[in-house]
Amino acid sequence: MTDLTINPPRGGFRAVAGVPGDKSLSHRALILAAMADGESRIAGLGPGADVAATREVLGAVGVEVADDVVASPGVGEWTAPGGELDCGNSGTTLRLMAGALAGRPFSSILSGDASLRARPMRRLVAPLTALGASVSLSDDDTAPVEVSAPTPLVGADVTLELASAQVRTAFAIAALQAAGPSTIDSPAGFRDHTERWFETMGLGTRLEATRFRINPGPVPAMDYEIPGDPSSAAYLWAAAAISRGSEVTTPGIVLNPGRIGFLQILESFGAVIEADVTGSMLGDAVGTVTVRGHGLFAAEVSGPLAVSALDELPLVAVLGALGEGVTVVRDARELRAKESDRIESTVNMIRSLGGGAEPTEDGFAVVGTGWLESGTVASEGDHRIAMSAAVAATGATGPVTIEDAEVAAVSWPGFYEQLEAVWSSQ
Ligand code: S3P
Repeated sequence: MTDLTINPPRGGFRAVAGVPGDKSLSHRALILAAMADGESRIAGLGPGADVAATREVLGAVGVEVADDVVASPGVGEWTAPGGELDCGNSGTTLRLMAGALAGRPFSSILSGDASLRARPMRRLVAPLTALGASVSLSDDDTAPVEVSAPTPLVGADVTLELASAQVRTAFAIAALQAAGPSTIDSPAGFRDHTERWFETMGLGTRLEATRFRINPGPVPAMDYEIPGDPSSAAYLWAAAAISRGSEVTTPGIVLNPGRIGFLQILESFGAVIEADVTGSMLGDAVGTVTVRGHGLFAAEVSGPLAVSALDELPLVAVLGALGEGVTVVRDARELRAKESDRIESTVNMIRSLGGGAEPTEDGFAVVGTGWLESGTVASEGDHRIAMSAAVAATGATGPVTIEDAEVAAVSWPGFYEQLEAVWSSQ
């Protein structure tokens, strides 16, 4: 539990900066490689504790994961875990592995730290039980989550009320193990990495924009190259947007439409964005993004845009406070189900730095005064709050202290050093 004090940068900056391998794609690559029979290599895996949790859980069911090589006998040969599977702070690990293990005949119990044990898991029950899996939760619909397939899974057609990529992916990974095809549908805005990958691997077909068919079959062993994480790059992009005349370029970022809502929001704030596609990875575009700061106005975020920028909404509050006008976020009730209640923790962060913010049931409003002041921010055990507070220092009148700053390592160990390196680049 260490506090960290960050002094605002002395002036503008121009930087080219690398960011960690994408967290969402790292979890998916590890799990799919572990389901395949054979050896897969994964270059550029995300270095954070969340991705490490997925490795650990796979190890506990008999899959060898050494550095960037995953060697597996195939999902059919996974072995029953000796005890509870510890997913740490990682909701993606718990939900995706619940899907993978829901197809196995043995029982698996998935749990994690206090933050993860407070998050809603009821959303897994209907889709996985539709496939014939058994799913049980603790009394308050949270982890520990116990899954098994008492009899082999069957295909099912499921429509979710939530635009959740985690639940869609949990379902798809379970459905791969079923006797027949399945379909999944949900509202729009979710990151469709899994759907793109499945299509490229011959494991699924897109039927409509949000409706997708999963064709059961063996997952191929293959080599993966994980591009940079836009949700991590967002902290550097926001720093550039805050600082008039500054610029940051981030090469090799995955540009899935469900991940780049934040770039659209940055544009409405007044930043200048350049995005060049340089390649692709299993159906997702990969490219270089440059953000230049030109002063900040305000933004209104709602609907599918709120879903596709969900992890970046604490940063939207920081930009809103440092901008001109009132920034409003709606349709983001899911923020309450993240590593902290991110509506409350985001509003508390802005208020701790002297800004004006009000929570609403499904979002928040922030008054743009053009500045924030020195203060101490409680990270509330949430990496995205800690990192957003550090970025707020870019436009603060004095130092910003972050409580439990080390929580940033959940997604980006070395984040503060990289932010300071960007600030001091000319
Ligand atoms: C993720 C999906 C999103 C996102 C999370 C990672 C994924 O969650 O917020 O950080 O990898 O599928 P939901 O599916 O709950 O919206």
